[in-house]
Amino acid sequence: MMANEFLFETVNLSKHFGALAAVDDVNLQIRRNTLHAIIGPNGAGKTTLFNLLSGNLKPTSGKVFYNGNDITGQPIHRMIHIGIGRSFQITNVFPNLTVFENIRLASQAMEKGNFRFLTDASRLKKCEERAWAVAEKVGLKEKAFSPARMLPHGDQRKLELGMILAPDPSVLLLDEPTAGMAAEQVPELIKLIREVQADGNKTVVLVEHNMNVVMSISDTITVMNLGKKLAEGSPEQITSNKEVQTAYLGGLYEL
Ligand SMILES: Nc1ncnc2c1ncn2[C@@H]1O[C@H](COP(=O)(O)OP(=O)(O)O)[C@@H](O)[C@H]1O
Ligand SMILES: [Mg+2]
Repeated sequence: MMANEFLFETVNLSKHFGALAAVDDVNLQIRRNTLHAIIGPNGAGKTTLFNLLSGNLKPTSGKVFYNGNDITGQPIHRMIHIGIGRSFQITNVFPNLTVFENIRLASQAMEKGNFRFLTDASRLKKCEERAWAVAEKVGLKEKAFSPARMLPHGDQRKLELGMILAPDPSVLLLDEPTAGMAAEQVPELIKLIREVQADGNKTVVLVEHNMNVVMSISDTITVMNLGKKLAEGSPEQITSNKEVQTAYLGGLYEL
């Protein structure tokens, strides 16, 4: 196991729902400090794979390694403490709390981890400082005291990103972060995700449907189909892969 090269590694990972192999014998390696996209048609198993990485689901068979350690089947709260942050396809924002309060609450998820040696008062202060820094990073400092429900949809997605960033995770698992966004807002969020990844030395695993976006920002792309890994490589390699073109991209997307 090359603990330092790969942040995540799955070995023969499978998840069955009854007779259906939603994830089928997948060997995946996510290189540290890269942006790694997972693409594939609806039902390919992308979200199930995320749930296996984040601990939301236990695999039927196979293993998940994080930093070279076997984390297969660990409970979700352990995952947050070892630095795995994820977004869900459903927005987890508290609508009646302000932007700042939402981010501060999220930052408290790491309180016992990084801040365990501090007193209660200085812990709270650290969380507040961190929340301000994150609000600024995601471009919502000016709207910090707005209730989350008042934000336009694009800003809600930024807030969601802020809430994932708040506990300072080493890896962000982002499942269709641009879903439901107006097309003209997508580039800004994607640029922000790339910045967060590059400036923060973080690893991002991204499921995204917009192929232009995926091709322009990914370091590595894994293509899934029917639970299996169909192909993997750089955007150039994926674009020119005949099997991928035939099975998936050809009919659906302009490359
Ligand atoms: N909890 C579940 N119970 C039964 N089947 C599921 C469940 N979750 C996902 N599936 C099935 O597993 C397959 C993969 O789903 P999913 O991982 O959501 O794909 P994707 O995110 O690529 O669209 C689909 O056929 C889906 O219907
Ligand atoms: Mg999905």
